[in-house]
Formats: sequence, structure tokens, C-alpha cells
Amino acid sequence: MRQARTTRGRGGDEREPDRSGDVHDPDGVRLQKVLAGAGLGSRRACEALIESGRVRVDGRAVRELGVRVDPGTAQVEVDGLLLQLDTSKVYLALNKPRGVVSTMRDEQGREDLSAFVADRPERLFHVGRLDTDTEGLILLTNDGDLAHRLQHPSFEVPRTYLAEVAGPVARDVGRRLRAGVELEDGEARADSFRLVDSVPGRAVVEVVLHEGRKHVVRRMLAAVGHPVLRLVRTRIGPVHLGDLRAGATRPLTREELGRLRGAPAARPARRGGER
Ligand code: URA
Repeated sequence: MRQARTTRGRGGDEREPDRSGDVHDPDGVRLQKVLAGAGLGSRRACEALIESGRVRVDGRAVRELGVRVDPGTAQVEVDGLLLQLDTSKVYLALNKPRGVVSTMRDEQGREDLSAFVADRPERLFHVGRLDTDTEGLILLTNDGDLAHRLQHPSFEVPRTYLAEVAGPVARDVGRRLRAGVELEDGEARADSFRLVDSVPGRAVVEVVLHEGRKHVVRRMLAAVGHPVLRLVRTRIGPVHLGDLRAGATRPLTREELGRLRGAPAARPARRGGER
């Protein structure tokens, strides 16, 4: 019933697979109620959303109002963004201050991430780590599936860092980082590199890469002769740090979450997941 069908036009030409098939689940919840529960507005507003053709269920456009879906299994998209229908799931961006350990509970009693979400009832965990000396964007969630996916090398979510380095920065540094520098645990390559600012003796550079090996940005910049003085992560895929102040959290927007959850897996990772 949920198979996409391929149809032939009058002239015998092969058409796009028919994705308008039946997504109706008679035991399910009305689609407009599901959308309203996901925060897309009143039921009336959600009905209008459906009728305007902006909603897809399990890859199929739905324009009729009678459709019912199982919120536990249906993949519902609005404007191409996958919705999280499980309202128990929480997704936060934190601006981790320098000096805070990237763990929810530090055995040695150092300042950890728990202090910044002490008022949240959910059991949250962090997606990946930042060095204790590194500041900036870190995601916190109770969605284990998403956390796992985002950390898996095959998803290759790009991360952006601003680094203050000892300068001046030679012209060929960007080319060398993009070509790949040899580190003790293998080559590391930047997706992009940009000189943001430069004053005598110091420079600020932006590095984008999609891997998360320990101290990787610091090691890459040191390898091209620019030890890092200060490091800030400013972006993870579609999520920007923006002007979130140090120590503050904010919920991810629906757009950020939809884009993170919909992030396609890239080509298979090399060498058993290591890059
Ligand atoms: N690279 C680093 O060197 N440190 C971090 O915290 C993250 C990436």
C-alpha cells in the first residue's frame, strides 16, 4: 500500500513515481491535530497548510483533510522539513563557556554542562564534545537517535570554528588545510578556510570541517604553524551560535531541527569511520 508506483503517461512516457498514494492510517490521529501538536499553529491553520500542499507524509503529498497518521511512525514534513512529533524530545543549543568540561557530570567535580540545564526535568546529554578550553556551540538533547546520527562520521555535519591564532597567516595556509595536513592519527582536511581579521602578531581565522577527532582544529592549525590562542565553535550544520551569550541555552528552531534530522548520510566513511 505504501509502495511508490511508477506510471506511464498517455504517450507511454515514464512519469515520476506516483507519491500521492495512500498514507491513511484508520487508527491514527488526524493530520491537522498532529501538526497543531507539533506547534504549527491552530488546527484551522494546519488544515490550510495541508490544503496548500505543503505537507508530506512518508514522502507523499497530502492535500485532503481526512487523513489520519500514526504519530509514532509517520514521517511528516512541512515545506520539506521533517517534523519531530514526539513532544517529549528536547533540543537545545548551549554556548559553552571556556573552562567547562564537556560532560554532564564530571567525576573530578570540575564545572560541567549540568549547571546550564539544572532547571530542565529531562535527562539531557551532549552531542559530541568541545575541549575544556574551547568555547561555543554544543547541542544538548534527550533524543539518542539524533545524537548518534549526528556524531556518526557518515553524516558529515559541517562544524565551523573561529580561531584566534598567532599571526601573520601566510597566503598558502588555506590551500594547505584544504589539501589535508598529516596528523599523528591520520590526515585531516578542512572544507573551507577564511582569514577573518588580522592585527600585528595575531589573526582570526574561520575553519569549517566535518569531523570530530579530539583537538583536531588546534592540531591542524598548529601543524601549519599557527598555534591556537582561542577557539570558538560558531556553527553545527544549520545551527548557528549567533548572539547566544556564554552559558545560555536556547531551543533549536523547527527549521534547524528539521534540517538536522533530515541531514542525509554522505558516502560511506573511510577506514571504519575514522577520517
Ligand atoms: N577541535 C578542537 O581542537 N577542539 C575542539 O573543542 C573542537 C574541535
